[in-house]
This record gives sequence, structure tokens and C-alpha cells, in this order.
Amino acid sequence: MLKKETNVVILAAGKGTRMKSSCPKVLHILGGKTILEHVINIAKSVKPKKIILVYNNEEKEIKSKINDTSIHWVVQKEQKGTGDAILKASKNFSDNDDIIVLYGDMPYISIESIKKLFNSKKKSKISLLTAYTKNPNGYGRVLKKNGKVIKIIEELDANFREKKIKEVYSGTFIASGKDLKRWLNKINNKNIKKEFYATDIIHFANLEKSIIKTVQTLNYQEILGVNNKLQLSILEKIFQKKQINDLLLSGVTLKDPYHFILRGILKHGKNVEIDTGVILEGNIVLGNNVKIGAGSVIKNSFIDNQTEIKEYTVVENVKIGKKCIIGPFAHLRPNTILDNQIHIGNFVEIKDSTVKEKSKIKHLSYFGNAEIGSQVNVGAGSITCNYDGVNKFKTIIGDNVLIGASTQLIAPIKVTKNTTIAAGTTLIKDVNTPCLVYNSKEQKQKKNWIRPKKL
Ligand code: UD1
Ligand code: CA
Repeated sequence: MLKKETNVVILAAGKGTRMKSSCPKVLHILGGKTILEHVINIAKSVKPKKIILVYNNEEKEIKSKINDTSIHWVVQKEQKGTGDAILKASKNFSDNDDIIVLYGDMPYISIESIKKLFNSKKKSKISLLTAYTKNPNGYGRVLKKNGKVIKIIEELDANFREKKIKEVYSGTFIASGKDLKRWLNKINNKNIKKEFYATDIIHFANLEKSIIKTVQTLNYQEILGVNNKLQLSILEKIFQKKQINDLLLSGVTLKDPYHFILRGILKHGKNVEIDTGVILEGNIVLGNNVKIGAGSVIKNSFIDNQTEIKEYTVVENVKIGKKCIIGPFAHLRPNTILDNQIHIGNFVEIKDSTVKEKSKIKHLSYFGNAEIGSQVNVGAGSITCNYDGVNKFKTIIGDNVLIGASTQLIAPIKVTKNTTIAAGTTLIKDVNTPCLVYNSKEQKQKKNWIRPKKL
């Protein structure tokens, strides 16, 4: 989209002190992704020649978390200010390149605004992305005289009159590598914060009588940055609101749009209904007529047509077939694959297991590392004993097996098809021919027994 010679510099080395967090600011999560990933995606969508990312070596996790070798990683050892950060990046761009700078804590800059900025560069030495806002607090103000930009003045260094200016600077600009390097080398730290401000390059551009243009963002939200947890929460709200609007317009019924969270990507069919308090995370696919009950949490899962997830169910890394009924209060854990028409009920936990069609596990059960055939019916309170404290073992149950209530299946174990397991059985041996399996237990009765009395 951009000229080949355009590079994007992303500044992400700041200390983020105002977040009051041990997690680097740009790694905080917004809409299921780190703030920095949002900015990198913006940078990538304009297809630059290079993306140069300035980070702080003490926050090594930034590099490992983002894990992107297409990016040129540049270390800024001491956080001396945004100007110093761009100077560190400048070793990676040549004089003929055009440079666009993005701040790693501003995830909502739009691609349209960057395109406008890029077009404006054709008629200027430097173009700045700015916005008009009723509340300019915290931003650098754009100082103009007779319509021409003179300089950017930081909030802390602004006087009473300058603070009233409503045009604020986003931090994003475009200039040639050659001009930028010359201006950067002139910056000093004689200001209240004793930092090398990137914004001072505008002052030096002006001294050279360069043409400085401003381009306004499409809306004020684009310039919202994250400097503290309050701002992060405001940005999260905006993110969720936008997603909710998109989902409603694409036909999803959200019974309570104010209490629905999507931290990832949702692909959906027709007539999907989602009740209040649902959280969807990661990559989620919901087929036609899928219903999700109140308070359910679903992560990275595929749910096929006409399946209903009832209230307060937790599902993670699971594939669920058509026409299933899951929950309420079920817990489907990673690597569980349910075929069509499966019923999973209250307080049933399943992990690392497959269940073939029309089987039912409706009450208070645990299945781990199990292969369950079709039309199996599991009575209440039945469990696999799949772990010896060190290793996990498999349980294999054939088609049409009836498992009586309160059965324990001591793995590794196989039960052939059509077997009936009596209630209360502890199964320790494979069952290879269809039969009724039970443990012989004696029932004893004590006559005239007196209940203990309260002391
Ligand atoms: C900056 C701008 C301000 C603008 C505002 C928009 C300057 C001096 N001020 O202020 O005019 O209105 O953004 O949000 O640029 N960073 C480094 N190394 C450093 C310092 C910061 O890489 O030594 C990075 C930070 O990680 C952050 C970005 O630069 O991503 C901006 O730094 P921050 O301290 O948040 O600047 P603001 O005070 O918000
Ligand atoms: Ca900031």
C-alpha cells in the first residue's frame, strides 16, 4: 500500500510507570491481544519495507511474547524519552526512506488515518497526525500561528493558555529518514521531565522553514492511549462495544449486549443466541442455531449446528458436534471431542476424551483419557480413575454400554459393547464379552442400633 521505501518505527521501550504493574505496559491485554500486537497489526496492514520496534532490554518478555522475526528489534537501554528512542531506531533506516512513527501504547490509530498521513507527505517535509478533543489533558498540544504549525508543547511544559489548545498530537508522524536524523540530533532534554522529546523535531523543522502539515484522525478514539489501568479499561470498553455492534449487525442475538465479552475471533452461523454474562476467548466457531446459556465461558472451541450450551458451562479447546445439550454447570476441558447428539449434564467434567454419538453423561461424573462409544449411558457419579500419581491411563468403552451410577473405572481398562455395569461397581479388569458386571458386596444390617447422641 505504501511506497516501498517506507519504514514503520514502533516505540515500545517506555517504562510504563503509570500502569503500576510488573507486566510491561505494551503487553497488557486489550480485546484478547496485547496492546503491542494491535499496533504491530496496524503497522503490517500498511505493508512497509521494514518494521523497527524499539524496546527496553529489561523487558525481554516483550520480544519473546511477540516472537516475530520479521520485525527489526532495537534496544533502548535507558528510557531517555521518545526522541532518544527514535534516534536508536534511526540506525536501521536509510536517508531515502520515509519513516512513520507509531507509539506502542496507541492501539486504535486507523489505517485510513495513516493513508491520509502518507498522502499528505507528498506536499510536506513532515506531516503530523493530530485530533481535536474536548479533553486535551495529557497530550502534547499543537501550537499554530497563522494556521502554520510552530511546535508541539507537552502538557507538563505548557502554560495556562497553551493548555487550552484543543488540537492534540497523536505522536504519529511521517518524515524522510534524512530530515528526521538531522532534527533528532538537535534535540536536548531541557524540559520538566528531562527527557529527549520526539515532539521537539517539529520545532527544528519549523526553524528550517519546512512545510509542516497536520492530518486529523477520523475520530477522537484513535488517539486514545494507554498510560494507566483506567485508560486501559476505557479502551477495552470501546473495543467490546465495537465488536458487539458488529455481531448484532451480523445477526447474532446478544440477549444482554452490555454483559458479553469477546476476547478473540468469533465465526458464527445463523440464529446464534448468546445470553448474559458469556465470555468467549480465542478462536471460536458457533454453527447455525447454537445457543449459549448465561455465564458460560468458552475458549478456542468449535460448536456445531443446533447445539445448546446451558448456563454456567466452561468449555476449552473442545469440538462439539450437532444437536448436543451441554450443561448446566458442565466442564469440558482440552482435547475433548464430542460427536453429534451428546448430552452432558450438571457437574460433569471431561478432558482428553472422545464421546461417540447419542451418548449421555448427565450427572456428577469425571471422564479423563477415555474413548466412549455411541449410545453409552453413564449413571450419576461415575468416574474414570485414570491417574496413578505419575502416569495417565486410557479407558475404552464400547457402543451401547450401560454404566450404572457410582461406577469407578480403574484405567487402563476396556469394556466391550453392550455390557451393563451394575451401580456401585469398581471395575478393575477388562470386560471382553457383553455381560452384566458387578462386584459382589454383602449388605449387612444391624438391628436395634442407636444413633449417637449429641454430647
Ligand atoms: C507522547 C507525546 C505527546 C502525545 C502523546 C500521545 C512525546 C514527548 N510526547 O506523550 O505529545 O500527545 O504521546 O499519546 O513524545 N517510549 C520509548 N522510550 C522512551 C519513552 C517512551 O520507547 O524513552 C515509548 C513508550 O513505550 C510509548 C511511547 O513511546 O509507547 C510514548 O511514550 P509516553 O511516555 O507514553 O508518552 P506520552 O507522555 O503519552
Ligand atoms: Ca502514552
